[in-house]
Amino acid sequence: MGAQEPVVVHKGLENVYVCESNICFIDGENSRLLYRGYSVEDLVENSFYEEVAYLLLYGRLPKREELSSFVESLRQSYELPKVMLDLLKQFPKNAHPMDVLRTGVSMLSFFDNSSDDYSRALRIIGAMPTIVASFARARKGLELVAPKKELSIATNFLYMLNGNEPDEEDARAMDIAYIVHAEHEMNASTFSCIVTASTLSDLYSVVTSGIATLKGPLHGGANERALEYFLSVGSPEKAEEAVEHTLNAKQRLMGFGHRVYKNYDPRYKILKPLAKALSEKKGKAWVYKTAEAVEQAALKRLSEHKIFPNVDFYSGILFHALGIETDLFTPIFAMSRSVGWIAHALEYVQNNRLIRPKAYYTGELNKKYTPIDQR
Ligand code: SDX
Repeated sequence: MGAQEPVVVHKGLENVYVCESNICFIDGENSRLLYRGYSVEDLVENSFYEEVAYLLLYGRLPKREELSSFVESLRQSYELPKVMLDLLKQFPKNAHPMDVLRTGVSMLSFFDNSSDDYSRALRIIGAMPTIVASFARARKGLELVAPKKELSIATNFLYMLNGNEPDEEDARAMDIAYIVHAEHEMNASTFSCIVTASTLSDLYSVVTSGIATLKGPLHGGANERALEYFLSVGSPEKAEEAVEHTLNAKQRLMGFGHRVYKNYDPRYKILKPLAKALSEKKGKAWVYKTAEAVEQAALKRLSEHKIFPNVDFYSGILFHALGIETDLFTPIFAMSRSVGWIAHALEYVQNNRLIRPKAYYTGELNKKYTPIDQR
């Protein structure tokens, strides 16, 4: 054996590249986010979620006929098997919607008759909103609303949730939220997806891994907690004191900070004005103003440490203004991010290598078993 290489433990895999990828580029210092080379700002300005999903999955923008058949296939996937709808109605009313979504995607695999992974991808992406909206209504004893295949995925979600179609402004806001949540390079949930994919497991298992990982409050669960924080602060006047208390108690401010962005998260810049406009439109301006006051107070303490607001800071305000219940925020994040998870899983297995890192052993060696009465 040659001289022992010095052991370096990369806790949290910080700054470790686990693969090469053409899907997403993030420049954390300069607040840049590109999907397949296109800036997220350009896509928000000119595109819509279904077209962005095609771009992420296939690596290029579709031709007109490609897009229409992609959209058609996606809309065919909105429906859930009747037995799933019946079961969703029997789930405990207090089940967390992320747990229902995780279970629903797993259950969907029982009815899979897709011919290939791309049609399986559309099945999953198309069905996730129906799982979330159906449970959200069932837990309140409301009649389920069947999906409408003539509606876009974002509009259809709001329709199934509320029982009426949103106006143009609300629908567009939801579509933009869908776009900015779709993909974000090797975040924790995407990494768990490629770990699952690297064992050559199936796409339903890949997405189930992603949902389970995204739920955590350090990751996708932050949007839910950020809104709860603003509601608990109660008014802009109380923001400074609340933030001081939180930070002095060494607690994390939800919706702030990021492993990669050491400047503003570009998605925050897109969502903030939308959250403002919709909050004012829906008579909830005080929630937005409270969040803005929290942001200003937090920046005073955190910006010098390169800790800035991230995607989760205003996304909850936007969803709240759309009348969406708080515990549905992370499921919406998952519904959108399903395309990013699947794109990375399909890309990774093209040049697959089972993901199996090491743990540096620091325990004792060569211990001998002792009978129980001698311990
Ligand atoms: C998402 O990775 C992605 O791409 C994720 C995501 C995506 O699209 O997939 O962008 C989505 O998950 C956004 C992040 C949502 N999470 C939150 O908003 C939760 C609050 N944020 C933090 O917990 C934290 O900022 C993380 C987890 C997001 C990132 O943390 P890091 O990179 O592991 O940094 P760290 O925990 O080592 O913190 C470094 C220092 C610490 O201070 P010290 O202990 O060294 O004194 O910064 C402090 C932290 O205490 N800090 C914060 C803070 N975030 C970091 N202090 C107060 N509030 C915060 N939010």
